[in-house]
Amino acid sequence: MLLWNNLLSVLNALVYSVENLEGFENGLLDDASIINTTIVGDSRVHQHNQGTEDNSIVTAIDYGNASSCPKAAKYGTGPPESCTEPTDPNNMPPSELESWFTQEMFEDLFPFANLGWGPSSCWPYSYAAFRIASRYFPEFGTSINVTNTVYTADENKKRDLAAFFAHAVQETGENNIALYDTLADQDASNCFYRGGFYNWFEGGPTSSFLDPKTPGYTPADGASCASAGQYCSASDQITYFYPCSNATIDNTAAPYKGCYFGRGAIQISYNYNYGQFQDWLRSVNINVDLLNEPNLVMTKMDPPLAVLASLWFYMTPQPPKPAMHDIVMGNWNSGAKNKAAGYDGPIFGPTSLIINNECSGEDPTNPGGPGESRRIKAFKWFCGYFDAPTGPEQTLSCKNMPVPLDQIFYNLSYQPDWSSTWKEVPCTCAPASYGGLIFYYDPEYYPASFVAQNAYNRIKCIASIYANPSMYSMDNSTSPCLNY
Ligand SMILES: *[C@@H]1O[C@H](CO)[C@@H](O)[C@H](O)[C@H]1NC(C)=O
Ligand SMILES: *[C@@H]1O[C@H](CO)[C@@H](O)[C@H](O)[C@H]1NC(C)=O
Ligand SMILES: *[C@@H]1O[C@H](CO)[C@@H](O)[C@H](O)[C@H]1NC(C)=O
Ligand SMILES: *[C@@H]1O[C@H](CO)[C@@H](O)[C@H](O)[C@H]1NC(C)=O
Ligand SMILES: *[C@@H]1O[C@H](CO)[C@@H](O)[C@H](O)[C@H]1NC(C)=O
Ligand SMILES: *[C@@H]1O[C@H](CO)[C@@H](O)[C@H](O)[C@H]1NC(C)=O
Repeated sequence: MLLWNNLLSVLNALVYSVENLEGFENGLLDDASIINTTIVGDSRVHQHNQGTEDNSIVTAIDYGNASSCPKAAKYGTGPPESCTEPTDPNNMPPSELESWFTQEMFEDLFPFANLGWGPSSCWPYSYAAFRIASRYFPEFGTSINVTNTVYTADENKKRDLAAFFAHAVQETGENNIALYDTLADQDASNCFYRGGFYNWFEGGPTSSFLDPKTPGYTPADGASCASAGQYCSASDQITYFYPCSNATIDNTAAPYKGCYFGRGAIQISYNYNYGQFQDWLRSVNINVDLLNEPNLVMTKMDPPLAVLASLWFYMTPQPPKPAMHDIVMGNWNSGAKNKAAGYDGPIFGPTSLIINNECSGEDPTNPGGPGESRRIKAFKWFCGYFDAPTGPEQTLSCKNMPVPLDQIFYNLSYQPDWSSTWKEVPCTCAPASYGGLIFYYDPEYYPASFVAQNAYNRIKCIASIYANPSMYSMDNSTSPCLNY
């Protein structure tokens, strides 16, 4: 995903980093800082004392309230007076999450959502939209299928939400570090971390990807972009499965319609992520053409997609990356070396690796810089707000995780079965140790609900061989299987 960092008040500049494209195809993750340390930690210490060295001191911290925060900068003219409310065509049943995470909490936590105007059901971020999205993932923020015994059911639910919100704040929060110039540290944090769900589009309220006349002050503004916002990745295989739209419109400043820059709470980006989200939507009978109309992620309200797209990314593994949810809930296998080092079970650290390949650790002071530091500080703040434990200090960062996720060896994708393509038998596919667009979920490493997709994925792979052999560098002379 994309990291967007608002430094408007400080530098009057935008800083963003883009997820490494090669990282997708080759499963390459940064392993620059492998440090071998012994991990000791008490996972049950309630760390209400953010920023304090001694984790054993538990103090009551006041997490403030939305009305005590200075108003955020607003952009545009605000939400329309009336609109079609978000609806759910599938009428999914209420999630257990709704029994504890209320509209009141959402509105206390995100008073400056939607470019400073606050939660509005006419706009992408609201409790109504959040609730509908969460119904599609009944395991999100609930006790369903959580098997770890490190935390209680109540603690697990809260930590799941805290992790999602922590990443949302870093990705699309207002991130107004100037709060720390005028407010006491805790008061500033209470408002800083209430700045989540602020931005819609990558590049901030006034996105340089868009037409300066319609710079992103309404969700519809993202319908076309300048070439810098296209974010289209086009290898032969990606183009076969998730072709970029080449459509243009008559708008000199923003002529392209196929714009896959970051959108929504944790900034889904690139055609292959939009395309995979579209595939998932189809699996729940929602047919939308996101590759041709990517801005539906921001404008569609039946169901509302802006939160749903981000929740899908949070809940879905993309081998070699487990789902962030599964790491926070402990439904993952980190391998023997990582386990021995304490990187095991329900922890937060590796989620920052997954979302933006960040493992630089937490800065000692507040607010600290962007990146992993901010994700960690936000996780601590939301855990404190919900009264849930953060877990051992060491595993809040992925800095000291001995084996990077892409170096834990297991099969990652379905590929042509090269051991038989040269034979006079039908072509088939087999799991392979390199990454690709059709995932293989190793049962040792991924939850059963994903492993259950393997049979379908294998057939999808076989069909793609016959439909487009050249993208696998196959033809009927080198690969006689194509003749069967
Ligand atoms: C980490 O420590 C273990 C045990 O002390 C050792 O076997 C291993 O080689 C070390 N790894 C690195 C990357 O230094
Ligand atoms: C919000 O916090 C302020 C202090 O910052 C306090 O005066 C006010 O009563 C609080 N409001 C609510 C609704 O708790
Ligand atoms: C868009 O252009 C690329 C590069 O020329 C091409 O590979 C792709 O198939 C085109 N997309 C569509 C939907 O036609
Ligand atoms: C990967 O899949 C191949 C079959 O394609 C199998 O022979 C091999 O044992 C698998 N490797 C692992 C580590 O499971
Ligand atoms: C719980 O896990 C089982 C086994 O993977 C799966 O079939 C089921 O759909 C899961 N439940 C929910 C609500 O996701
Ligand atoms: C092999 O491919 C060539 C060119 O694509 C085609 O003309 C030929 O008919 C194919 N042969 C068979 C046996 O399918």
